[in-house]
Amino acid sequence: MTQELQGRRALVTGGASGIGEATARALAAAGAHVIVADLNGDAAEAVASSIGGEAWRVDLSDTVALEDVSLDVDILVNNAGIQHVSPIEDFDVERFRFIQRLMLEAPFLLVRAALPHMYAGGFGRVINLSSVHGLRASPFKVAYVTAKHGLEGLSKVTALEGGPHGVTSNCINPGYVRTALVEKQIADQARVHGIPESEVVEKIMLTESAVKRMVEPEEVASLVLWLAGDRAGMVTGASYTMDGGWSA
Ligand code: NAI
Repeated sequence: MTQELQGRRALVTGGASGIGEATARALAAAGAHVIVADLNGDAAEAVASSIGGEAWRVDLSDTVALEDVSLDVDILVNNAGIQHVSPIEDFDVERFRFIQRLMLEAPFLLVRAALPHMYAGGFGRVINLSSVHGLRASPFKVAYVTAKHGLEGLSKVTALEGGPHGVTSNCINPGYVRTALVEKQIADQARVHGIPESEVVEKIMLTESAVKRMVEPEEVASLVLWLAGDRAGMVTGASYTMDGGWSA
């Protein structure tokens, strides 16, 4: 295994589970020192200790507490996120605001906190876990779709400002990935679409996928790894779908 990221420091939000965990493991295997940032401190600690990294127990929805953070990382993976499925007319405003804080304001604050270090070193990689729902909408996910569309904007502006300083910024846009986040929304999807839970994966989640299976977290992590490396220096301001052909 090449150690392409030897000497690099990386922060992965939501790194204790799912895509974030797979990403933390992939970056560490490539030589990076990885900070696993997560609300679930025990799980973050377990992942971090298994890869020789460090854990940061943090509630990223508490954005006021993030305003004064400074980060000495070369690679920032904005990954933490949640889903909430509900029609707009029933969507709780506090839930909407919470999701914007966690999935849009926190990534902005972490980018802002990391750029001075990246600019000083002349190298940086911001990799944002967006979604197919960052590029196209879906009913009953108004807060998630709104935050992910905003994340696409943040990513592009970061690319434009960071480019002269050796900093790239890109989004990854997966279709459904086999993680806890998807497992948790099966019952909600069944309710809002009025179908049995046993039919949600086939009839809602994979209906437009050409490959007809979910993405594996390790497949997403492999794209993060490539974007984090030296060879991806001319790739910036881009959005990479990994959705089995869903958006084709
Ligand atoms: P997951 O539920 O497996 O992991 C999310 C992680 O974020 C958990 O470890 C959780 O503790 C952490 N987290 C949640 N709230 C937090 C908070 N307030 N502060 C700090 N950490 C917090 O989710 P998954 O599926 O790995 O999702 C990761 C990212 O990928 C999310 O941004 C999600 O929107 C995106 N994504 C996921 C897809 C999927 O189908 N699973 C598809 C497209 C995008």
